Amino acid sequence: MKCLHCLFPAIPLEWNQLMNSEKSLKILAIETSCDDTAAAIVTIEDGVPTVLSSVVSSQIELHRQYGGVVPALAAREHVKNLVPVIDEAMRMADAGPSDLDAIAVTRGPGLIPALLAGVSGAKALALAWQKPLLGIHHIEGHIYANFISQKSIKSEIGSPESDIGNWKLEIGNSCFPLLALVVSGGHTELVLMRDHFEYEILGRTRDDAAGEAFDKVAKMLDLPYPGGPEVAKHASKFKDAERSRFPRPMIDSGDYDFSFSGLKTAVLYEIRKTPETDRDETFVSEICHAFQEAVVDVLVTKTKRAIEEFAPKTLVIAGGVSANTSLRESLSTMAAEFPYTEFTVPELQYSLDNAAMIGSAAILRFAHLSTKERDTFKQNAIDLEPDANLPLGDK
Ligand code: KG4
Ligand code: ZN
Repeated sequence: MKCLHCLFPAIPLEWNQLMNSEKSLKILAIETSCDDTAAAIVTIEDGVPTVLSSVVSSQIELHRQYGGVVPALAAREHVKNLVPVIDEAMRMADAGPSDLDAIAVTRGPGLIPALLAGVSGAKALALAWQKPLLGIHHIEGHIYANFISQKSIKSEIGSPESDIGNWKLEIGNSCFPLLALVVSGGHTELVLMRDHFEYEILGRTRDDAAGEAFDKVAKMLDLPYPGGPEVAKHASKFKDAERSRFPRPMIDSGDYDFSFSGLKTAVLYEIRKTPETDRDETFVSEICHAFQEAVVDVLVTKTKRAIEEFAPKTLVIAGGVSANTSLRESLSTMAAEFPYTEFTVPELQYSLDNAAMIGSAAILRFAHLSTKERDTFKQNAIDLEPDANLPLGDK
């Protein structure tokens, strides 16, 4: 059934003006699309989404023994953890149900059993507390992690991994056109935004996502799940001259599509031709380094071409792979060639899956609804349905 209440009305353009009148808005955001159970309370300060609390309960230890996420187990853990995680987020923000103006939840894309857990919980709360309920796209959340205010709870969490890029994105229309390089476990896309919540997909992966390729290469090397951070860690230990140079698939394809499965196979062949006894720490770090370099090279080259064609005022990275230091550094160096394009990265704590990013997108959407429109979203407590393949821009 198509849910009519998921359709957001067109957004007026007077962002700063509208935002300033919405100082006290508070949203409870919930994210359960994969293996993190997350809740956050987000408000708006001076027109910028500001995080009052952000709680993430990771299931990494549980799934590690299976070498990847098991959807049914993920859902069971979400059901177990969701209420305590929401309770903790509300407590940290000193917020009760009466302080909330709305609830937001990741509607898709993701693993359907996992999404169902979050959406069902959010619907129950929205019905019991009589709140509007907003279904948010997971990738939209990753993109809007870049708009979160830096002053929020950053000092409690510690300093960011690296000091690359600017840490605050102008919330008004002056940041558009905006180019987003989306790199997560399930998505690799170049997205052009000419305004808030308007998405044009310039290109996407034809097979594996960048994060998925990192995870699979880690598995080939017997590194633990999740593979991305492990591959990055071993790559950073690489010291000597490069022994392997892997292909850069589709780097000169002339479009903005990606492909990582051939690269993954090249890595597999390189591993297979090396006797097991020779696969020592140096070998692992060489492979990880060469693989990461190939992925980063393709991502940066295509992003550069998109900047040349579309001259965006802003470049952002979104999704779990945006936590990769080599990618952040290479994009930063490349973006410096374009003085008219400002490069921003999300804070590290908002790069991986979290609910604050869902709250950031939701509160900006909600702030632009009239009182009457906000009320119609109460019907989502009955109607909202998760969608494992939800397309970006389709609400
Ligand atoms: O966005 P995310 O947390 O979940 C999805 O929406 O998929 O992204 C998870 C992906 C995983 O594939 C993980 O291995 C990868 O992001 N990842 C990394 C790093 N940290 C996480 N990949 C490369 N380098 C990292 N430092
Ligand atoms: Zn994600």
